Amino acid sequence: MTTPTSQRLEVVILAAGKGTRMRSALPKVLHRLAGQPLVEHVIHTAQQLGAESIHVVYGHGGEQVPDTLRHLPVHWARQEPQLGTGHAVQQAMPAVTGDIVLVLYGDVPLTRLDTLRPLVAAAAGGSLAVLTAMLKDPTGYGRIVRDPSGRVVRIVEQKDASAAEKAICEVNTGIMAAPAEKMRGWLAHLRNENAQSEYYLTDILGMAVNEGETVALAQPMHEWEILGVNSKKQLSELERIHQRNQAERLMEEGVTLLDPARLDVRGTLTCGADVTIDVNVVIEGNVTLGHRVKIGPNNVLRNCSIGDDTEIHPNCVIEDSVIGSQCRVGPFARMRPTNRIADHVHIGNFVEVKNSEVHDGSKMNHLSYIGDTTVGRKVNIGAGTIVCNYDGANKHHTNIGDNAFIGSNSALVAPITIGDGATIGAGSVISKDAPPGELTVARTKQVTISGWTRPQKKPKGEVK
Ligand code: UD1
Ligand code: MG
Repeated sequence: MTTPTSQRLEVVILAAGKGTRMRSALPKVLHRLAGQPLVEHVIHTAQQLGAESIHVVYGHGGEQVPDTLRHLPVHWARQEPQLGTGHAVQQAMPAVTGDIVLVLYGDVPLTRLDTLRPLVAAAAGGSLAVLTAMLKDPTGYGRIVRDPSGRVVRIVEQKDASAAEKAICEVNTGIMAAPAEKMRGWLAHLRNENAQSEYYLTDILGMAVNEGETVALAQPMHEWEILGVNSKKQLSELERIHQRNQAERLMEEGVTLLDPARLDVRGTLTCGADVTIDVNVVIEGNVTLGHRVKIGPNNVLRNCSIGDDTEIHPNCVIEDSVIGSQCRVGPFARMRPTNRIADHVHIGNFVEVKNSEVHDGSKMNHLSYIGDTTVGRKVNIGAGTIVCNYDGANKHHTNIGDNAFIGSNSALVAPITIGDGATIGAGSVISKDAPPGELTVARTKQVTISGWTRPQKKPKGEVK
């Protein structure tokens, strides 16, 4: 059999259908699985298969699908009106110049590459290849009809099937591959004389058999690979399957998950050795965890990288940040875009850090806002320190030198520089640069009024 690599593969993704049962204004294929539109998962699969070009057939919901996914390198083919799966593939074929066409569905997001490769290989060898499955409950699917000798003869749709045909449990998953030229020929002969007055892609199987072509059937290893999304319930079921698959892969790679059912990866998670992740963690975008990183419960990590031996305590939200090694973050810390945190840094509870750079060994352990700030090495930022970076119109920068000590409850009014080794007295409002190595205090002097007496309450019943 010819290897698929010697022939140019093109993938046609059907995504024009309505998705009535989603009960949503959003086209079905834009609903998200693991944070990504359903059809994007399928496009990614096609890319990984090495498709030379990818054609997405869209229609229902107008331009919403291409408008949302304009950044992806695919060809868009509009199908209007939607006259069936065969008609949908016809809309893409004029732009297909490759040797093999693989048809995928935009609402079937979890098909494995190992399941699709044999179909592509069979099509490369000249066959029509169809992915089929044996289902306990085949209701709704097209059935694979065989002759008495067991030879495949055609596919019959549920709505056109006789009672005997409805009893067949071998179904068409809808995924098929064929040599492009043959596909073109079969599509040209489709007719819509059936229960739904649609041009059925499935009719090409009967045509291939009648022409004496070889038909190859392949099956997926898992049933979830062929499941489509038609309702919110099915979407949630596929989400769980996908999350379980990702959790299993992480555990196979050596990651400790305290409960694989309570991790959600909506993006890419890359882990070093001996990483531990507690429950209710949500990963979004690209997240990289170094060796021996510990992620406590209830953390949201979005596009960040965390260095070796760093611990993220419970209930933090960390976004677009690079955190070094041997740091401690949280509990209840918030890191907004974009921070660069060096090694041995402590960021404690109720500390918000935004667009800041924090150098080695610095600590801000309690109740602070640090925004648009460069924090030097070994700085201690006391509880309640607020950097006043915003004057109502512009954001300003704050520079805190190495070994500075900021007393609790200080306000640093930017733009401002706190020199190396400077000490700021607690409760100061600092609006001018503080020189290095000195104590700067900016608060009203403490006074004692001697002999002052506190007002007394009058005893009850006394007349005013
Ligand atoms: C189709 C198959 C059926 C198979 C089932 C698997 C046909 C005729 N039938 O049935 O054998 O068992 O899938 O789920 O192919 N679409 C378009 N344009 C259209 C119609 C559909 O792009 O005009 C897209 C849909 O968005 C969807 C896919 O094609 O992604 C399948 O459409 P759907 O209506 O779900 O197919 P079925 O009729 O259920
Ligand atoms: Mg249909």
